[in-house]
Amino acid sequence: MAEVFDKIVRQGKFVLGDHVERFEKEFAVFQKVKHCVSVGNGHDALWIALKTYGIGKGDEVIVPSHTCQATWLAVVNTGARPVPVEVDPFNYLINPELIERSLSPKTKAIVPVHLYGHPCAMDNIVAIAKNHNLKVIEDNAQAHGAIYKSKQTGSWGDCNATSFYPTKNLGALGDGGAILTNNKKIADQARAIRNYGSVKKDIHTVQGINSRLDELQAALLSIKLKRLKSWNDQRIQNAKIYCKLLPNVGDLQLPPQPSASVKPVFHQFVIQTRSRNELRKYLAKKGIETAIHYPMPVHQQKAYDFLKYKKGSLPIAERLSETILSLPVWPGMKFDEIEFVSDEIQTFFRR
Ligand SMILES: Cc1ncc(COP(=O)(O)O)c(C=O)c1O
Repeated sequence: MAEVFDKIVRQGKFVLGDHVERFEKEFAVFQKVKHCVSVGNGHDALWIALKTYGIGKGDEVIVPSHTCQATWLAVVNTGARPVPVEVDPFNYLINPELIERSLSPKTKAIVPVHLYGHPCAMDNIVAIAKNHNLKVIEDNAQAHGAIYKSKQTGSWGDCNATSFYPTKNLGALGDGGAILTNNKKIADQARAIRNYGSVKKDIHTVQGINSRLDELQAALLSIKLKRLKSWNDQRIQNAKIYCKLLPNVGDLQLPPQPSASVKPVFHQFVIQTRSRNELRKYLAKKGIETAIHYPMPVHQQKAYDFLKYKKGSLPIAERLSETILSLPVWPGMKFDEIEFVSDEIQTFFRR
């Protein structure tokens, strides 16, 4: 990495240079899509993807009720209204059976989120979108490498967005993101929007923003992309061990395991229990760090008051925010460490 850093400093091209171009090509190949347009972060990737379809004021966009708030924010920042659809409480993903009843003449797109590394039912979602002439923009920030029915997440939609925030399965040294599409016109437009709306130097056809990836991030991402499969395999293996060590414990609900057609990449290993807060405190005392993704549903955040979703309006998202807990699942975690966490959870429920 030090060599790459030296080379970039000597070259003196720090943003949108050869390393960015190379990474875009490599990531497009990895995702099996024609075009990858790197951007500054995952929020901008979603925002730009929506903008390339002209989505904005007066439009509605279907989003999951339970997600990272950036999914909703990107929609709000276009001027459109996010319309939440409840998730399935067992896999945390938008429930395709509930989508159609939330559509209106204003609906323009569906943004499924492959939360925690679990793939959404993309065949159903794409079919609904086709029937109603809607765009699908996948939020694949948490699921690099996940597969649904032999096809990678982030390659099903019309135009897809991802994040390379450092904690992601493929994470940079700072912020980063990308847009993926098979549509050249959309890719060209995204390329312009990320760089002040510039199609070529000093020619600005649209009002864009500054959301560019820098050379250092791109160089690191190229190096890390080669290791992504192995890191994902380790996460999958860790999840398998947890599930083996934690069968029928208290009211603990474990995440879905891989099947022949659905292959998650366990960005997070999320369990559910009514004793979540007590369990979290107990584990912290034993030196085990856990997290909550996310402790407050988006519709209850003050920033989204204007959408006027009252407490109780999205009961699944609200309940999940009180019961979910993310256990450590990082690649490189040793069997003994997973066993220690599992043993402590067993002890907690035996007390
Ligand atoms: C599901 C999801 N969508 C969007 C984002 C936004 O990505 P970023 O933080 O790079 O803007 C994130 C990451 O934080 C995320 O987890």
